[in-house]
Amino acid sequence: MDQIVESPEKKPLANTRKVFVKTYGCQMNVYDSQRMTDALSEQGYEPTDTVEDADLVLLNTCHIREKASEKVYSELGRLQKMKRKRAKAGAADLKVGVAGCVAQAEGAEIIRRAPVVDLVIGPTTYHRLPDVLARVESGQRVIETEYAVEDKFEHLPEINREKTLARGVSAFLTVQEGCDKFCTFCVVPYTRGSEVSRPLSQLIVEARRLVDAGVREITLLGQNVNAWHGEGPDGKPWGLGDLLYHLAEIDGIARLRYTTSHPRDMDMRLIEAHRDLPKLMPYLHLPVQSGSDRILKAMNRRHKAEDYIRLIDQIRDVRPDLALSGDFITGFPGETDEDFEDTIRLVERVGYASAFSFKYSARPGTPGADLPDHVPEEVKAERLERLQKLLMAQQTAFQQSLVGQTMDVLMEKPGREPGQMVGRSPWLLPVIVDANPAKIGDIISVRITKAGTNSLHADPA
Ligand code: 5AD
Ligand code: SF4
Repeated sequence: MDQIVESPEKKPLANTRKVFVKTYGCQMNVYDSQRMTDALSEQGYEPTDTVEDADLVLLNTCHIREKASEKVYSELGRLQKMKRKRAKAGAADLKVGVAGCVAQAEGAEIIRRAPVVDLVIGPTTYHRLPDVLARVESGQRVIETEYAVEDKFEHLPEINREKTLARGVSAFLTVQEGCDKFCTFCVVPYTRGSEVSRPLSQLIVEARRLVDAGVREITLLGQNVNAWHGEGPDGKPWGLGDLLYHLAEIDGIARLRYTTSHPRDMDMRLIEAHRDLPKLMPYLHLPVQSGSDRILKAMNRRHKAEDYIRLIDQIRDVRPDLALSGDFITGFPGETDEDFEDTIRLVERVGYASAFSFKYSARPGTPGADLPDHVPEEVKAERLERLQKLLMAQQTAFQQSLVGQTMDVLMEKPGREPGQMVGRSPWLLPVIVDANPAKIGDIISVRITKAGTNSLHADPA
């Protein structure tokens, strides 16, 4: 969930103003960048993937770890130089905006530290972007980071059919934002605010629009996606499981996924959805962070290692082909060698198909930063290396286990080599099909011939 992605939007038109959007962090930012691009297109801005062509550059930022935030300031330094060069050459002015979680957390600081920045906009206020831009164009520098009382999704433009099509057959749909869990290492409850679930009716409309545009696979997104709750058509409270059952009934949706979940919110209905819904893909990102009860407590995860293992067993009972992914942190304050061994033991017991792991990064304002016994950087790094070796071995073993298997693959795009196509396996891994047997959006059966580092090769079955 947390890999850095850069997703400049494509297809510039001549003689229009152009916006370059750079996305950092999680898939929720990818979704937000797409919606901002749609909103800006109504203001006459067309997306470009070349920063040099842009009239407006928007950095949609991530604040989760120190390194993620630092990237923003170095990018702003580069933009400052570009702006100066343009001014010298008498070229059109460049406007620069910072959006996302760094904007939310450090708005005033950004304006102070980076004179190149014209606007700062937080993740709950993207629908105000057109108004903010109008103020920028009249010469102001604008900070818009107050939590919006109105629903941003109600005010953002509708899903744009043409742009959705251009983005491909697999789409994100944010169903929930924010987090009330307050894990002691995490900035999300402060940057994204408290949990807000989008109403069911809004989600159904958006899902149908995506399907009408040709989307076949929808990934439901939320910082804490399985905390989604709403009112069902029956007037009863619904959870994510109910939502998945409901969405699975929409013709045209071939595949459903959801990310990221918290173990405490994996209820029976959601587990049953994994048993009952063939459209729900057998892949689950369920972070545990640590295998030590002491550290889990200090992290305020509010479950024990054993609870997590029991939960995984329960889900695997109903969906034996489930592949698991997780997030891990090494060197949380107070973590001893023995605590770390507990993490290793948990990983060995559970077995992951993929994982993201990080050294603990103390984030100002979070309770973890004020805890005693911070772990030296070199110890964090050593533990991370050992953990990653184990996770990588598990990932390789998982991918190798797929060789020789026949599976359904959703065709997503042409491959790099002529005659090749790239699709997606049920377990999220890209599959390069060495033939051109289908159209984009088709689901075809293939036989896996080879596993690479991050992709599989296959022949039509
Ligand atoms: N330090 C290190 N990793 C962190 N994560 C979140 N906050 C921190 C932090 N302060 C990791 C967690 C989370 C993922 C998105 O990022 O593993 O699940
Ligand atoms: Fe952060 Fe914990 Fe909320 Fe996940 S559940 S967003 S790690 S506070």
